[in-house]
Order: sequence, then C-alpha cells, then structure tokens
Amino acid sequence: MSAGEDVILRLEGVTKVYSGMVALKHVSIDIRKGAVTVLVGENGAGKSTMMKIIAGVEQPTLGKIFLDGKEIRLSSPADAEALGISMVFQELNLLGNLSVAENIFMSREIRRGGIHIDHAGQDRQALALLDRLEAGIRPDMLVEDLMIGQQQLVEIARAVSLNSRIIIFDEPTSALSAAEVEVLFRVIADLKAQGVAIVYISHRLEELIRIGDFITVLRDGAVTGNERMANVDTKWIVRQMIGSDAKDFSKSVQHELGAVLLTCKDVTLPRATGGLAVDQVSFDVRAGEIFGIYGLMGAGRSELMECIAGRHPQAGGHITVAGRLVDRMDTAGRIAAGLAIIPEDRQRDGLVTILSIAANLTLSSLKNLASIFHIRPQDEMREVKQAISNLSIKAPHPEFEASSLSGGNQQKVVIGKALMTRPKILLMDEPSRGIDVGAKADVFRTMRKLAAEGIAIVFVTSDLDEVMALSDRIGVMSNGKMVGIYERNAVSETDIVAASAAGHKKAKAA
Ligand SMILES: Nc1ncnc2c1ncn2[C@@H]1O[C@H](COP(=O)(O)OP(=O)(O)OP(=O)(O)O)[C@@H](O)[C@H]1O
Ligand SMILES: [Mg+2]
Repeated sequence: MSAGEDVILRLEGVTKVYSGMVALKHVSIDIRKGAVTVLVGENGAGKSTMMKIIAGVEQPTLGKIFLDGKEIRLSSPADAEALGISMVFQELNLLGNLSVAENIFMSREIRRGGIHIDHAGQDRQALALLDRLEAGIRPDMLVEDLMIGQQQLVEIARAVSLNSRIIIFDEPTSALSAAEVEVLFRVIADLKAQGVAIVYISHRLEELIRIGDFITVLRDGAVTGNERMANVDTKWIVRQMIGSDAKDFSKSVQHELGAVLLTCKDVTLPRATGGLAVDQVSFDVRAGEIFGIYGLMGAGRSELMECIAGRHPQAGGHITVAGRLVDRMDTAGRIAAGLAIIPEDRQRDGLVTILSIAANLTLSSLKNLASIFHIRPQDEMREVKQAISNLSIKAPHPEFEASSLSGGNQQKVVIGKALMTRPKILLMDEPSRGIDVGAKADVFRTMRKLAAEGIAIVFVTSDLDEVMALSDRIGVMSNGKMVGIYERNAVSETDIVAASAAGHKKAKAA
C-alpha cells in the first residue's frame, strides 16, 4: 500500500498533547481521493482528535500536514474550509434557535447585491440538499424542534454543501435509522465517484467493512493497523483495537424474578401532526427482568419511553411505578418514585459538560446520598470511582471536565449518572450508542448485574443482536403499537423481524 498519486492529504508524525494528557502519539495517515478511509478505535483512542487536526479545529503539538504534497498549516476551521476540507462533528454543532437553512449556510450566507441575506435562495438550496438526503425536513424549521437523527442530517447537509475535496464524517450514523443510513451511503458513493476523499468514523463494524476502501485503527493514541479493507475481517479489526479478541456479551445470570415494578396500561400519545405516535401500548416488567423493545426508527419506541418518563402530560393510559400510579406526576416525581432515565439525546438531556465527571455522576443522586449518609464525601467519591471503573470511563481523574472526555466516554457518564440514583426501574434508550465494542460488553454486564440485584430494566434498541442477547422478554413495536411480546427463549430473530415488518405492512394497508 505505497503512497500513490491518489493521496490528497497526509498526516506525518502527529502528536497531540492536551494539558498533560497525550491524545495522539506520532500518528501518520494517508487520505486518498475517490476513496473512503475508515477510522476505528476504542472510546478515547484519539479518532476525533486526529480528524479535528485535519479540520483545523485543533492544532498538532508536533508533526506535519501535507495537502497535495505541500506542507500546510491550519490555524482554524475557516482555513481548512478554504482548502476544501469539511467535517461532520460527533457532538453536533448547530444553533437551535436558527432555522435549518440558516444553520446550513452559517457564516457563508447567500447575499443579494452583497448586502441582504437571500433567505429564499438559501431555503431553495437547502431544500435541494435535504431532498438529496431524503431528510423530510423543511428548511424553515427550527433546529431545536428536530429529533437528534434529523439534526445529524442537517450537519451532513452542511458538510456536503461546501463542495469540499475532503469530507470527514465523525460517527454520522449514531442516531440514524437503517433507512437513513442507506441514503447517506448512497450520497457517500456519489461523492466518491466525484473524486471526493472521505474519512468515516464509526463503532458499527459492519458499516465500516461495507463502506471502507482503507482502514486505519487507533489504540491509545497510536496507529496499530493500516490496511486495504479487502485484506481484513472483523476479527482483525477488533484485535488491532483492543489487543485481544472481542469479549462476549456475558450470559445472563440465573435469578428469580420478583414483583411487577412497572405497568403500562393502554398508553397512548397523539402526534402533533395527527395520528398516534404511541397507540394503546400495554405491558409490565418485573423486578430482575430485562425487557427489550425492538422496532425500527419511527415505530414509537422513544416516544413510549418519553411517556413513561413523564415528558408528555397529554399522554393517555395508566402507568404504575413500584406500585404507585404516576399518571399525574411530572418527570421529577417519577424519578423520586423510582425511575431512572437514560435519554436518547444524551448531549442535550444528560450531561452538563462544564462540570467534572464526578459532579455529573452525582448530580441526580445527591439527594439520595445526602439523606442516607448525611452527605459523606468519602462515600460519594467511592461510588464515583466505582462507576468510573465499572463502565471503564477513560479519564485521568474524577475531577476531569466532562467536555474534555471523548464522545463515547461522555455517553458512559450519562449511563453512570442514572445508575447512581439507585433506581427501581431503569429506562434506557439505545444504551450502546456511541460506545465501542469493548465498553458495550461492560455496559451489558452492568445491566445484567443490576437485573440480578432486582432492578427492572426496559431498554430500546434497533439492534437485533442486542435485543436477542440481553432481553428476558422482547416487545416488538411497529407504527406506535406493541405488535408482539415474546419470551426470549421461545422466539427467533426471524420471528422478531417478521413481527416488526408485518405491523408495518398492516398499517400501510389501513
Ligand atoms: N480538550 C481536551 N482536553 C483534555 N483532554 C482531551 C480534550 N479533548 C480530548 N481529550 C482526550 O483525548 C483523548 C482522545 O479523545 P478523542 O475524542 O479523540 O477520542 P475518540 O477516539 O474520538 O473517542 P470516542 O469513540 O469516544 O469518540 C481522550 O482521552 C480525551 O479525554
Ligand atoms: Mg470521538
């Protein structure tokens, strides 16, 4: 794999040191035109840092960057954009109070006669881009009103609109549905055919293998592998990533189930646009049980979780938490009654990035610890350290600021925070989003352990392997309805997919 004339950008011997922490150690990478280079590695391995250096967001402590064989210096994202380099960021960078079109054209507004912003022109161009991504979003919508997956599409539209020679996608699909991923892959294939160089970061290995032409693996800030994708398989990738073969998802611990802790009876949520987002859903979950909810994006899974969490006062039906009817309670009341919630949009709902890891972890549990222990700081710190180790959060110390954690490690802090409230019932929306294969096993082990201790767990996923591996019972949702509930041991993957698809067809026919 010698450096051919296809190489458009090269990093050579790049080291990045953040106040005492070495994020990248003498790394080199070639980015080729008309090809997809994928970048993979554990949470905190240095992937985002490496790409932020190419996008001008961070400057290397040591090392060189070459574009078309000439050394360049990038002191800002504007420098990089001027040279045709754009990036879709892992933590979305949009302004919520501006429209979709305003975000797409931010800081390079289309002007009429050089003065006034041509809003109509911007809207028209934005619409063309959004249509290409089949986003179903209007350019005049406010970004804060969009679901997180839609926001991700807006970021992608912005990066694509710059007509760049190099486009970096940092975990672009973490909140996208399977159908949206397919559209993105088609767009990437088009860009590739036009000669654009693509860098693609993801934790979904199947995605990487499918889309990548070249692969670079990072571990602890160093490159451990660099190959043509055709020459490698999943096993190789995992070995370069974690230095050993993948940990298995632990098998479930045999334990007795206890009393029913959560009951949903005819839970219903009207959609703002008419119809029902959640349609008369009923189920219950017992102490010690893991109930997995499978369904495609738009099936109403997240909305059902939000109803249970008390986010929708207008929802109908009845919900009982640990024996108490919570219909009239707000979210805080339900948390006090024993619910813990790990939301879909962790950045927005879960984390205070300017606070330390320790402060974030204890944020919701303060009252709890205070009443039991009359606030004993040493107990609190012990719990914090325990959470950091259980979830393998990669940080130099507990007082490390959350904003300086890698994306995946921020996700783990949100999970840890919910666990520290000692809930009776744990609601998890896509628990494995953004976390690497090793950490996923840690999160799953933690879920199993909690179930064995008698907590009732409800989790939502669009990953079939995950729902099969973790659940005691599986509920399948489609078009707002719970179309089937199955014992894990009495159902196959094919049954689950068929149930989900049949519900979809029936709704279309109606
Ligand atoms: N501003 C910062 N200050 C201090 N350390 C930082 C800062 N930004 C990143 N780091 C550290 O650099 C290391 C690499 O982080 P990076 O975000 O590049 O990881 P990543 O490979 O993208 O991980 P993930 O898969 O979780 O997104 C991490 O240990 C992180 O805590
Ligand atoms: Mg990252």
